[in-house]
Amino acid sequence: MQLIDQRFLPHQFVIEEVRSVEHMSAAIREMHVRGAGLIGASAGYGMYLAALEAARQDLFDEHMTGAAAQLRATRPTAVNLSWAIERQLQNIAAGKTAEEKVALALRTADWIADEDAEHCRMIGQHGLQLVRQIAETKRKKAVNVLTHCNAGWLAFVDYGSATAPIYAAHDGGLPLHVWVTETRPRNQGSKLTAWELSQHCVPHTVIADSAAGHLMQRGEVDLVIVGTDRTTCTGDVANKIGTYLEALAAKANDVPFYVALPSSSIDWKMRDGLKEIPIEQRGADEVKNADGWCDGRQIAVQIAPGKSPAANYGFDVTPKELVTGLITERGVCDANEKSIRSLFPEHAP
Ligand code: MRU
Repeated sequence: MQLIDQRFLPHQFVIEEVRSVEHMSAAIREMHVRGAGLIGASAGYGMYLAALEAARQDLFDEHMTGAAAQLRATRPTAVNLSWAIERQLQNIAAGKTAEEKVALALRTADWIADEDAEHCRMIGQHGLQLVRQIAETKRKKAVNVLTHCNAGWLAFVDYGSATAPIYAAHDGGLPLHVWVTETRPRNQGSKLTAWELSQHCVPHTVIADSAAGHLMQRGEVDLVIVGTDRTTCTGDVANKIGTYLEALAAKANDVPFYVALPSSSIDWKMRDGLKEIPIEQRGADEVKNADGWCDGRQIAVQIAPGKSPAANYGFDVTPKELVTGLITERGVCDANEKSIRSLFPEHAP
């Protein structure tokens, strides 16, 4: 199994070979692969690798249960992880022999990946209508979209969630410019989103996270589109740390704030995002240091005093009241339970 080791982007394009579920778990935990959809797809293939290992042993089911637990423990916030693992366990259970189970695991992993790409493509088509409506009011001037972190094709199997409408609009000839927040501490915005947009020739500008409110006050942002790692069935949105502040600034300045997500990022059991969504905390060194490219190699430099403690919350929760709408593979809905369930009636409580 091959993946792009995203830790080296945008400076180096490194392909990593993954041969065991243990290796896949480490790749997810250490963020060689990251982003909700890609975490789900990687976990799907991790379960396939586990099935190959299990077929070489006596206790197939026990090995799969252990593999599922190992993968589940890698990252707590993105619900796509447990969604993909559950899907695998359910489908594999239908196999009667180890050989059948391995075949089912591969088919399910491919299905998770293909569906992720198709859902993001559809998000692009629905989001395009929103961008088009705004473009009509701008008299050929560029529509300014602000996005946070990386909810691009690197975070999924293809297209991305927040970037899918951007790519669709750009490809359709709509004039567009993207404000890319750098997204401290790991800089997924300045490293990954800026790289993706450059590859696609989409006009963009990298800004410090704290510049978002200033730009909104000046009328320089027409809409915000972000991704999500877990959205409750009631519409509360967990996304990369800093999203909540952007949503507050958007509300204060009447800027539409949209969240783009495939339904695999909806948690159909959770109702209160603030109380229930687990928020990942990572190492303090990510906050105290910054890393980048210097003389042909990746280096980390210390910013904060060595003795100062630091806290590193990976995500925050934006309450539904601050969300203008959700862009899903089935269309755009309001961020409330009734509207979400009307698009996905098969998930009736
Ligand atoms: O910590 P990460 O990089 O895995 O975080 C994921 C993100 O990039 C964002 O929160 C994103 O908007 C949602 S994932 C599509």
